[in-house]
Amino acid sequence: MSTLWKSRYAQRTLGIKSSAIRELLKVTQKPEIISFGGGLPAPDVFPVERFEQACHKVLADHGAMALQYGTTEGYQPLREMIAQNMSRYGIVAKADNVVITAGSQQALDLIGKLLINRGDRILCEAPTYLGALQAFNVYGAQYVSVPVDDDGMLTDQLDANLRTGPKFMYVLPNFQNPAGVTLCEGRRHELILLADKYGIPIIEDDPYGQLRYEGEHIPPLVVLDRENIRRDKAFTVGNVIYLSTFSKTLAPGIRLAWIVAPEDVIVKIVQLKQAADLHTSTFNQYVAYEVDRDGFLDQHVKLIRQVYRERRDTMLQALEEYFPEEVTWTRPKGGLFLWVTMPEGTDSLALFQSALAENVAFVPGDSFYANNGQEGSRHMRLNFSHSNPEQIREGIRRLSLAVKTQLRANHVPR
Ligand SMILES: Cc1ncc(COP(=O)(O)O)c(C=O)c1O
Repeated sequence: MSTLWKSRYAQRTLGIKSSAIRELLKVTQKPEIISFGGGLPAPDVFPVERFEQACHKVLADHGAMALQYGTTEGYQPLREMIAQNMSRYGIVAKADNVVITAGSQQALDLIGKLLINRGDRILCEAPTYLGALQAFNVYGAQYVSVPVDDDGMLTDQLDANLRTGPKFMYVLPNFQNPAGVTLCEGRRHELILLADKYGIPIIEDDPYGQLRYEGEHIPPLVVLDRENIRRDKAFTVGNVIYLSTFSKTLAPGIRLAWIVAPEDVIVKIVQLKQAADLHTSTFNQYVAYEVDRDGFLDQHVKLIRQVYRERRDTMLQALEEYFPEEVTWTRPKGGLFLWVTMPEGTDSLALFQSALAENVAFVPGDSFYANNGQEGSRHMRLNFSHSNPEQIREGIRRLSLAVKTQLRANHVPR
């Protein structure tokens, strides 16, 4: 490595390391490995033909505009369509409350830039989304974490934690990544009331809300906040910034997502985004608009739900069949992941290595904890959307061999 460059790296980069897991997961690209590692959608449900037609139409009808620079806020018809689509979930927003970003990952980065001073504490779930930790770490975030159970964040632990004055809460209410759990309605109300009591804003990250395979839709925090507390029809104030994305419903490769926020916050985010990338790809925004113009997404999401529900059920059945009794796992009602808990003393990094020897991969739990303790080492995250049912059964069988070996090793008297 060149010392010339190294000595000039900015302070904020010094604590940033490549994720060990990302490095490990590179190995899982090999064709013989069944990977439950990445959070990848199933490639077989990508609407390739629909995209092909949309690209042709965009180029034929709006070629010059679609290839031109655009506004930082995003393509106006797409912003309007997103606002309209969200209203069906009770989210009251005008196009002016929406900014289009290059994936929710960029939204998280912009939020970090907007809100985090070095040393600020962020309240998040334990475990939480690794990508958010990576985005916030760059701005020098510290964390306060609140554990989750099958009903999401333990809100009875919130009061004490909020009294320590975190800058904001980062919450994943639906089919949480990595644990697959959902914040129940009662706790959503509690969270909103406590946030209001202490004046702590909430970032609600919701990439999976539409991918529910059973049970009833639960109103997002942004809706409850407005209904319960604000009663502000113009959405000029609000305690919640809401994020969602086309990555899991259309395709992640188009890198299109959005932020919903009060207008004055949008103005600030737009300033930061302008500095970052001027705007999100004009062409991709035109194409996504064209793809979904006549309500295509509704039909398509039905197909995705059907495919993923079957894959989730296959994984749950295979776990039941192959895994030893001492191991437990969550039963997600939607999303892409489930979360496995092994007995105390399990080393999920060692397990990862023995799983690779069986040609199967997962993400060890450690990476999803903000405070880098040992909490994660008895957990693994399994993705069920990417592999087909046959691969899922075979992958779980292989993984069970590695798990059993690891459990036997744990029992050896020292
Ligand atoms: C909770 C959560 N937030 C954000 C993202 C990033 O999504 P995008 O592809 O829109 O950048 C993901 C992706 O897996 C996610 O799980």
